Amino acid sequence: MVKSFKTFLKHTAKDFHNQSVNPPVVRASTIIFKSMQHIRKTQVKARKKPTGGHFDYGRQGTSTTYILQRILTKLEESFHVFTTPTGFGSVFLAIFSVIRPEDEMLVADPVYSPTRILTENYLKEFNVRTVFYNPHDLKTLEKNITKKTKLIFVENPGSNTFDFQDLDKIISIAKKHNIFTAIDNTWGTPYYLKPMKLGFDMSIVSATKYYSGHSDVMGGSLAVNKKVFNKVKTAEKITGLRLGPDDAYLITRGLRTLDVRLDRHSENAKKVAAFLSKNKKIQLLYPFKKNSENYRMWKKYYSGASGLMGLKIKSNNAKSVKKFVNSLKLFGYGYSWGGFESLVLHQEFRETGKRKYMNLSKDEHLVRLHIGLEDPKDLIQDIKQALRYLR
Ligand SMILES: Cc1ncc(COP(=O)(O)O)c(C=O)c1O
Repeated sequence: MVKSFKTFLKHTAKDFHNQSVNPPVVRASTIIFKSMQHIRKTQVKARKKPTGGHFDYGRQGTSTTYILQRILTKLEESFHVFTTPTGFGSVFLAIFSVIRPEDEMLVADPVYSPTRILTENYLKEFNVRTVFYNPHDLKTLEKNITKKTKLIFVENPGSNTFDFQDLDKIISIAKKHNIFTAIDNTWGTPYYLKPMKLGFDMSIVSATKYYSGHSDVMGGSLAVNKKVFNKVKTAEKITGLRLGPDDAYLITRGLRTLDVRLDRHSENAKKVAAFLSKNKKIQLLYPFKKNSENYRMWKKYYSGASGLMGLKIKSNNAKSVKKFVNSLKLFGYGYSWGGFESLVLHQEFRETGKRKYMNLSKDEHLVRLHIGLEDPKDLIQDIKQALRYLR
């Protein structure tokens, strides 16, 4: 019987041995074998099928992490998925797997700011050169390719400004020049965008966000194709970047309702966007207005939009923007997103100030909203009352 992915998510990860509906959390450092021969047999099996869940030591994972990896491999339609203790761990693992001293990499200008710091500052100390490209002008990507370019690192949409890029074009440029590609797909998750099917070599999702969905766990996933599998496997081994079983269990639990939650986040976000789009002081950074290039790029690749959006607010009165943000009662002020609750964040200069291709004038302010699973009528009422303070 062919099962849809929605059905698969509900029925997977049962404990078929004990007949319980949830899998056990297997915690282990040492794994005991009956004999020397048995440990050798396991190691031979692991070498023959390195994606097969054969473990001889807890750092390689346990059946709990393996279950999560199997679910994610199916969701990503990838060769394999590695799981890491944070989303940023997956960003690091992707880059560390393929980049070496003297290499160059091309990175989308609106990338998540720790990714920017890692590439621009830290890797520079290892003689790795990073060039940032304009997500809306891929000539800035192609013209900066040299013989040393090893990796194109995309984040779609870009952090805070939500720029959607022409992904097919990026892949075809990369293939032409034989360059590895990685994408941070945390915003859409493979539920709305399948980067591996588009031809990316690596796809990253911060599991801290929509996968877990309950703001109580951190994790990351790195999906890979066959071409990069061995490189990532070696890097994973050398860095010890592995997700623990308790966190894997919580993420597996969250995944069961990924489709239901994301569909609701999306529905709520559309209602809030419709309300905000009427405000003349606000430019929505969200795929809502059909006549924009950004919308066209979103529509070309995604089957849905998640709950995270940006607002570019035009105001000469910066204090009134802060007052608007601070007056929201249902939106918690804090980092991260993708949980059940609504959140707000005023983007400070340090988040976007280093960008090469963004000109934010003094009277423009960036605010990020995560639209949660509350009743959208309440969220709109809350935004309405807070907007009274915006001048
Ligand atoms: C787009 C994006 N990628 C990666 C990360 C890092 O994920 P984590 O916080 O799980 O390390 C974040 C976190 O906010 C993010 O927004």
